[in-house]
Amino acid sequence: MTEAELYTVYKGVQLAAHLHPPQGLKYFEEFSFRSDDIIIVTYPKSGTTWMQEIVPLIMSGGDPASVETLPNWRRVPWLEMYQSCTFNIEQRPSPRMLATHCQYNMMPPSFFKAKPKVIYVMRNPKDVFTSSFHYHRMASFLVNPGPQSEFLDKFLDGKVYFGSWFDHVKSWLNTEDKEHIMYISYEEMIMDLKDSVARIAQFLDKSLDAEVIEKIAERCLFKNMKQNKMSNYSTAPPEFLDQTNTEFLRKGIAGDWKNQLTVAEAEYFDAVYKDKMKDVKYKFVWD
Ligand code: A3P
Repeated sequence: MTEAELYTVYKGVQLAAHLHPPQGLKYFEEFSFRSDDIIIVTYPKSGTTWMQEIVPLIMSGGDPASVETLPNWRRVPWLEMYQSCTFNIEQRPSPRMLATHCQYNMMPPSFFKAKPKVIYVMRNPKDVFTSSFHYHRMASFLVNPGPQSEFLDKFLDGKVYFGSWFDHVKSWLNTEDKEHIMYISYEEMIMDLKDSVARIAQFLDKSLDAEVIEKIAERCLFKNMKQNKMSNYSTAPPEFLDQTNTEFLRKGIAGDWKNQLTVAEAEYFDAVYKDKMKDVKYKFVWD
């Protein structure tokens, strides 16, 4: 199907019409945040599902009940997904765990008043591109990516699902009220998951024994999380997500772009990155 058939534009950003019909976006706009909500914010393919495993385990003190019984999209629902309206989020006890792929400026008015806790996960955009390229081949609600070079142009131009990676990251880095935001990268989690879990727990004011932190980190290792049916999308209908050729939990490594991009494509990517990120002071792990 074509982009015109599959996509809708919301606040200047391309969304999947099937997942984000007007009623769903209205629900999102009118959503009432609480100040003790925990929001996982990511550009797609940056480690959302990983964080949807880690945060519930931290909040339950390591009890795996919720990650073993609820699919990730119910456990930590995306607010802008239409399906979330049916999850009784309003009735959930505090602290609620929520997710969004939206840019900062797309957040609804109540977010700016309540200032809930945000965990913003970033990933090397070349790996985001690589993961996204494969994901577009399996997700029926996204347009077929076509040849890699074409998809690369679209990605760098922000003409993809949830818009530009550059705009997304800059929007969340440039906020004024950073004290309620924790910034963490996929790469830091790959390098030291135990330390990352400990830092996230501290940000969430959860005091956990070293032993519990170790257990959570072990459970969230790629090889172990891949076995969790509630997190590997094996319960998602194949006509929605076709995992025959590539799995959702695909490689789970940092630097896979080296196997995906040609030298020329990587150089082109770097040149665009340098230009678009020239005013950003944040020190990324991959720079
Ligand atoms: P790859 O396609 O590079 O393997 P999102 O959840 O935001 O859509 O991101 C999906 C990416 O995160 C995929 O990357 C997936 O494999 C990776 N991922 C999910 N869980 C992970 C884990 N426990 N460890 C490492 N990577 C993980």
